[in-house]
Amino acid sequence: MSRSEVVADIAARRGFYWPSFEIYGGVGGFYDYGPLGVAMRRNIIAKWRKIFIEPYQDVIIEVETPVIMPEPVFRASGHLEHFTDYVITCQKCGRKYRADHLIDEELSKRGIKLSLEGLSGEQLDEIVAKYGIKCPNCGGPLGKAERFNLLFKTTIGPYSTEAGYLRPETAQGMFVAFPRLADYVGRKVPFGVAQIGRVGRNEISPRQGLIRLREFSQMEIELFFDPANPSCPYLSEVEGVEIPIVPEELVARGSQDPLWLSPSQVAAKGYANEWMAFFMALSVKFLAEMGVAPDRQKFVAKLPHERAHYAATVYDQMAFTERFGWVEVSGHAYRTDYDLSRHAHFSGQEMFLERRLKQPKEVEEVRVYPNPAAIRAKYGDKMGDVIRAIQRRQGAVASALSSGADSVDVEGFFITRDMVYIKRERRRTDVEKFIPHVIEPSFGLDRILYVVLESSVVVEGERRYLKLPPDIAPITACVLPIVKRPQYVEEGRRLARALWRAGVAAIYDDEGTIGSRYASCDEIGVPIAVTIDEQTPKDSTVTIRDRDTRRQVRLALEKVVDFAIAIRSSTPFDEASSRLGATPFKA
Ligand code: ATP
Ligand code: GLY
Repeated sequence: MSRSEVVADIAARRGFYWPSFEIYGGVGGFYDYGPLGVAMRRNIIAKWRKIFIEPYQDVIIEVETPVIMPEPVFRASGHLEHFTDYVITCQKCGRKYRADHLIDEELSKRGIKLSLEGLSGEQLDEIVAKYGIKCPNCGGPLGKAERFNLLFKTTIGPYSTEAGYLRPETAQGMFVAFPRLADYVGRKVPFGVAQIGRVGRNEISPRQGLIRLREFSQMEIELFFDPANPSCPYLSEVEGVEIPIVPEELVARGSQDPLWLSPSQVAAKGYANEWMAFFMALSVKFLAEMGVAPDRQKFVAKLPHERAHYAATVYDQMAFTERFGWVEVSGHAYRTDYDLSRHAHFSGQEMFLERRLKQPKEVEEVRVYPNPAAIRAKYGDKMGDVIRAIQRRQGAVASALSSGADSVDVEGFFITRDMVYIKRERRRTDVEKFIPHVIEPSFGLDRILYVVLESSVVVEGERRYLKLPPDIAPITACVLPIVKRPQYVEEGRRLARALWRAGVAAIYDDEGTIGSRYASCDEIGVPIAVTIDEQTPKDSTVTIRDRDTRRQVRLALEKVVDFAIAIRSSTPFDEASSRLGATPFKA
């Protein structure tokens, strides 16, 4: 059995994940997570927080923003216009395909590999015509490639005019909340905002299990920095990590073989700025600690025509899988000031910070002063509200009225030229405004879960098990009475309860032979099995069996909880044994 077949076999049978809505025939791109999947996701998230957020709490904060967002957000972000893939429809049977995937699959059957990312509809049509590609379902002719927007649309409340969209990335919630987040951190950069949450993309024809879902989870950071000072104070902390990177110049020459560079080399060569290199190094470590060795990872640059509409530099972190080949598990993008500038423009709100100047300078500013008499004449006792709105939105009022408009809508008030005085003023200042730039690492939790599961599979003859790192394994310990005798059962249940109360994920099992129960625990990657045997009633000791080596030690019953906690926090089996006074097991 191959590794991927082992994963496919245990995923649904043992409760990691399975296709959703099975009783109604299922819908592509939706998966349920069972108890083991939920526990494993929680552990992956905990590791991500431990690597990316917890050591950098002086800089990185975490938020949660809504999953459904109103239309103006995605008009500003560019998703309404650009977040599209090409769909091709069979003219005979009506089946629809994602154009690039269909072409790739059909051409790879003929041993042909083309780079399709970022091609226009016309270019895709030309390839279909040139290679005579037909519908794989019925052999019928294919229509023209048409753009299909991947946003899921809904309405907010009872008004069908209030469109809402399921967010396709968690990022926008963080950009939209920038003014409040900037206030929270004292309006200083660098600062990063992290968010973990569900997103939706109406993928055209998802058929790759957890790799391509229509609803999935992301773990993202938007790191805001001053473009005049892009240095990362933590770079030296990750200097020991070698980053496998395929920079743009190699990709452009058709190479996919990585260079192995330290983070400071990546930055010095101009392949990425320091923050991006820093996050790449943490990402190598993140996957490596979950069992995906660095030589099964690489960061591949995207060429300009392949990049998302908001990005100036992009690297995809790829992990190698037996089933799907190289899979993108995280995207690392330099989003410049694109998002904040667009939201500032579309919302009329200010999205800048200030940097201190070395030398004070003279600046000319357009300032807006309310004309109380004219405002009172129109708005009466609402005058105070109107004045405050004008003061809040000075920039928008000044730019609308000084560029020729007769009036401007300010927070619902209709402001005409006679209601304000617009003055050009010179003043000395020792600060200047800037819109922060953004480096974004964006991880897909579901793809990572699959890659980690597949990487953990060990097949040794008849034996197969998941060598999951103990801090990622969904269950830490199995408690197994060697036979189902009342005294053993009672002791075993007591021990399981003690583990649960200490917050350790444990399974109690007393059905079947001890051999089959060990195999069952190994199959889901439980790092240790604790056995209650004939010795236990005599001296209150149990055996602890190591999943990977199958070696056993004897340990005092009262120390099992501490042993399990040590294992879960990645203490090697031998070290935990000697620390807690375990002795070699003699059968
Ligand atoms: P792809 O090229 O494979 O469609 P993408 O470039 O659109 O991916 P990003 O937009 O960079 O992906 O999204 C960030 C991360 O979210 C990806 O690295 C991936 O881990 C995850 N992701 C994206 N699309 C999906 C999906 N349909 N199902 C599961 N995870 C996804
Ligand atoms: N936030 C990056 C992406 O989801 O594409």
